[in-house]
Amino acid sequence: MSRNLTYLNVNKIFGEHGKNPVHALKDVSFTINPGELFCMLGPSGCGKTTLLRSTAGLETISSGQILYGDSDMTSIPPFRRNIGMVFQSFALYPHMNIFENVAYGLRVRKMPDAEVRKRVTEVMELVGLTEELKRNPSPTGLSGGQQQRVAIARALVYQPDLLLLDEPLANLDAKLRRYMRAEIRRIQKATNITTIFVTHDQEEAMAIGDRLAVLRKGVVEQIGSSNELYTGPDNAFVANFIGKMNFFNARLSGANQATVDTTNVAVEINPQKNRIPASAGLQAESKVLIGARPEQLEVSSHKQPDSLEGVVQIIQHLGQVVRYEVLLDDKVCDASIEVDMPTMLEDVREHDRIHVIFKKGLPFLFLPEVDN
Ligand SMILES: Nc1ncnc2c1ncn2[C@@H]1O[C@H](COP(=O)(O)OP(=O)(O)OP(=O)(O)O)[C@@H](O)[C@H]1O
Ligand SMILES: [Mg+2]
Repeated sequence: MSRNLTYLNVNKIFGEHGKNPVHALKDVSFTINPGELFCMLGPSGCGKTTLLRSTAGLETISSGQILYGDSDMTSIPPFRRNIGMVFQSFALYPHMNIFENVAYGLRVRKMPDAEVRKRVTEVMELVGLTEELKRNPSPTGLSGGQQQRVAIARALVYQPDLLLLDEPLANLDAKLRRYMRAEIRRIQKATNITTIFVTHDQEEAMAIGDRLAVLRKGVVEQIGSSNELYTGPDNAFVANFIGKMNFFNARLSGANQATVDTTNVAVEINPQKNRIPASAGLQAESKVLIGARPEQLEVSSHKQPDSLEGVVQIIQHLGQVVRYEVLLDDKVCDASIEVDMPTMLEDVREHDRIHVIFKKGLPFLFLPEVDN
């Protein structure tokens, strides 16, 4: 029976008593549901691997609890946790054929030969390597994607309660990554093993996960489905990490209104899209950020009330939408912005001057981020 996996105020400090302690996990608390495919997403060094290794018992946490159902895993040694793990650099044994690579964990557990053969055959079928198993080469005789499948089969073969995947697709090219992420979701749903999938690729996390957690410097910033994080980011960091968000430097000019810096363009913010907590104690003229996704803006060749002006850098037809990259005047933004239009504007070319409008009720309001 699959159970909840719960992190309760988990802290991990490397070199806790030394000169340069690294606080890699800070009061991490959340619950993963049975059978869930849960993605951990965040930039390099934010603590993703540390969280997985702590779950597997390969790191000892400094404080807090990791619970599987009601039992505290932190007191259980790694080899008794029944966890399958695919490491960031998934080292297969090059001197063993793929059968023995997958069988290894069962041999260590002294499982009878017939049972080993049955389990390996089943799991190789699950990951789509039945034909390769007949040839049974060493891993070097397989493609990158096939080797990846062997690594997953090796983690699945002893029917773990939890499957931990640490950037399992990092070594694959872009096309194979897209294919394999769908495969991982298929395999995970077929086995229904509670799985944590770690990546720093937001597109991968959004595509694969039932829910995702965004981690920054050891802190869980937000947890939700792809849709929840895309449509309701809690802060500018999450907004920037999940999908494209354009940010406009602005100052507060009303309870739910901000005026874009160096202009008189005032933007009314729907209170539900205002992400500034009352506790921040902001006043009129405080610095804020207006956030708008490419589809929450419009471009026009004609000046409009409350439009920003700039120059079109690049126009790209992306099939579903036409993307206008625009460099605004007056340092309104720190970089060029992206605007998605449903169709191509006949009267606008690259290098033309253009007007950008916020669609009513859609932009977000954020606290400025000190650093991302
Ligand atoms: N054994 C260790 N000793 C000291 N510090 C460590 C150790 N392992 C990790 N760290 C530090 O802990 C922090 C989190 O590291 P971690 O490996 O968990 O990051 P990550 O999110 O997996 O990054 P990446 O995307 O690059 O794999 C980093 O600052 C890292 O330098
Ligand atoms: Mg890592």
